Amino acid sequence: MDNNKQRHDEAVAIANNAVFAAAAELQGQQDPYRPKYHFTAPANWINDPNGLIYYKGAYHLFYQHHPYSTKWGPMHWGHARSEDLIHWKHLPIALAPSEPYDEGGCFSGSAVEHEGMLKLIYTGHAPDRSPKQVQCVAMSQDGLHFDKAAANPVIAAPPAEGSQEFRDPKVWRSGDEWYMVVGTEKDGIGKVVLYRSTDLMEWSYKGTLLESDGSKGSMWECPDLFFLGEQALLVLSPMDMGDRKNCNIVIMGECRLEDASFTERGWMDLDYGTDYYAAQTLRAGDGRRIVIGWMDMWGASEPSARYGWTGCMALPRELTMLEDGILRIHPVAELQLLRGSSWQLSELQTTKDGLSLADSVHTQLCAEILIELDLEQTTAEQLGIGIRCSADGQEETLLTYNKSNGRLTLDRSRSGEGDTSSSSCLVPFDEVNKGILQLHVFLDSSSIEIFINDGRAVMTSRIYPKLESRGMRLFAVNHGTVVLKSLMGWHLEVEGKDRM
Ligand code: FRU
Repeated sequence: MDNNKQRHDEAVAIANNAVFAAAAELQGQQDPYRPKYHFTAPANWINDPNGLIYYKGAYHLFYQHHPYSTKWGPMHWGHARSEDLIHWKHLPIALAPSEPYDEGGCFSGSAVEHEGMLKLIYTGHAPDRSPKQVQCVAMSQDGLHFDKAAANPVIAAPPAEGSQEFRDPKVWRSGDEWYMVVGTEKDGIGKVVLYRSTDLMEWSYKGTLLESDGSKGSMWECPDLFFLGEQALLVLSPMDMGDRKNCNIVIMGECRLEDASFTERGWMDLDYGTDYYAAQTLRAGDGRRIVIGWMDMWGASEPSARYGWTGCMALPRELTMLEDGILRIHPVAELQLLRGSSWQLSELQTTKDGLSLADSVHTQLCAEILIELDLEQTTAEQLGIGIRCSADGQEETLLTYNKSNGRLTLDRSRSGEGDTSSSSCLVPFDEVNKGILQLHVFLDSSSIEIFINDGRAVMTSRIYPKLESRGMRLFAVNHGTVVLKSLMGWHLEVEGKDRM
């Protein structure tokens, strides 16, 4: 066996043992925060989703992983497989740092199928070397065990237009060629550069595809370029955008790969919440474009670390373009497989005293709830929905909609442990259903995802309430009435999740 392979196999074996031992320790513990249907690692730290691919009849999810602790450290690639994007089976760690060029970690990247093999393209990170970030390839015959290419790094230095911050290659095939976008920056301006190859090993530099106009952040992490019909979409995770530290956006426009040009037509937040980052897309077996993001954020306080794990993935979401040129972000249809017992309410009216929306028969910890509010009939200036409310009224996550400025706000100031910052967005309405505010809410043990007006905007946050805080109420803030058109709720849970 050559040394390169032996070193990597050993590093992977040690990491697998560590994560197995850590997961075994967590078995049977009472953990109020472990998600019941969102993806988490068996134990310890995870961040970005990597290498999302539909390969030989199954979905593969790799992820940034530190198998040795609940904190970020030298990055490995964790690995899981699923037939339906919902039920994931944990697989052995795919990549571990083992070579001088990735001694500081195997950073984010993507996966492709080539010559019958599953190939991973990732960033080798070595902070004590120069350049510190280079692009590398690893391949597998069986989809489980990966060998690093002897020719690594396949891109050994950033282009002159970039800098040492040069990472997160996303590779895809177009015609007979492979393209790669990589995130970088120069003098505090985030940008995406483009490369082309015929064999994944030799790459020619095509130029800067797009860069910030000064308002979109200092470094562009995790770029992903794809097309929905004629429309090109560039998903990015900018750092230092406006007053936000990190956020996840999508820029829409026209892209010509031949001359590395991208003409921007508009942009939006891929998610308006506090905990969504580093999203990556894949093409499903049936052609759908699916996006998965890291449901957490750099600098978050991470109360779940006490229970031996940190970070999870947001729900897989399908991306489509609506006829009016608006991007629709919708929970994948497969999620309906999880629907258990249900409850329903319709045509109810409430005032500031509030109306209970939770049926006591069902636990409201893990649920899908589809709420329609009739704004035309609602006389209150502002309405509120309390979620995961404690019986004594001390704890609740508050969603408010203000009719006068059209903003929906998610207030975590009384959500329990963890961060207390709020987020908000201007609600986009469907022209035909202008008077209806539709909120499609997914609650798990420590998260809330809200799909607004049929996926015209999404807001995702982590929340850490007490296990007993399960109430839900609808009320008018101050004066007037609020009219609930309908509510459908389903209990959601993946049986046997995280059983190794
Ligand atoms: C994004 C990111 C990537 C990097 C990885 C390291 O969250 O900072 O740019 O590859 O995380 O874990």
